[in-house]
Amino acid sequence: MLIWLSRSEEDTYLFGKWIGSNTKAGDIILLFGQMGSGKTVLSRGIAHGAGVSGMVNSPTFTIMNSYSALHPVFHFDLYRLNEPEELYDLDYEDYFFGIGITIVEWAERLDYLLPEEYLKISISREQKVNERKITVCPVGSRYAAWKEVLQNYEGIGS
Ligand SMILES: Nc1ncnc2c1ncn2[C@@H]1O[C@H](COP(=O)(O)OP(=O)(O)OP(=O)(O)O)[C@@H](O)[C@H]1O
Ligand SMILES: [Mg+2]
Repeated sequence: MLIWLSRSEEDTYLFGKWIGSNTKAGDIILLFGQMGSGKTVLSRGIAHGAGVSGMVNSPTFTIMNSYSALHPVFHFDLYRLNEPEELYDLDYEDYFFGIGITIVEWAERLDYLLPEEYLKISISREQKVNERKITVCPVGSRYAAWKEVLQNYEGIGS
């Protein structure tokens, strides 16, 4: 597990880029945190780090945006999801358990569809207005290799 303090939007973006640059085909990255905590900023960094070029914004009205890169990147925002079942209509399993990299904002909404294995990232506001605490935790044996990746984090810019 890695706990890291971001002091700016740029910090969070660059941290996301570092995460994205370490992703492998099939990775699921679930983001937890309140409104305005920085999930979209982090997602943008992750997508760019995974090789996506161009604009990355939250898929507010579509639930999911897909981008092509070395591996396809699927960016979900579940804020407007009423019931986890709605994900079946989107054939979400094809994305989650396929060859791409899946990033999910508002992963709290997955509820009973929470996968067994994933990279968990929680982001929360801290006392200072631009500070965010980012906690990264690999869940399940498939993500064991991430433990070493997280241990070797040397700060942004490295
Ligand atoms: N350290 C920081 N990291 C990320 N964002 C920050 C930070 N400090 C301030 N901010 C600001 O917080 C906001 C984060 O917005 P963002 O859309 O990423 O949040 P979100 O968690 O995706 O919200 P929502 O739940 O509405 O989707 C931005 O306005 C950003 O400028
Ligand atoms: Mg967002």
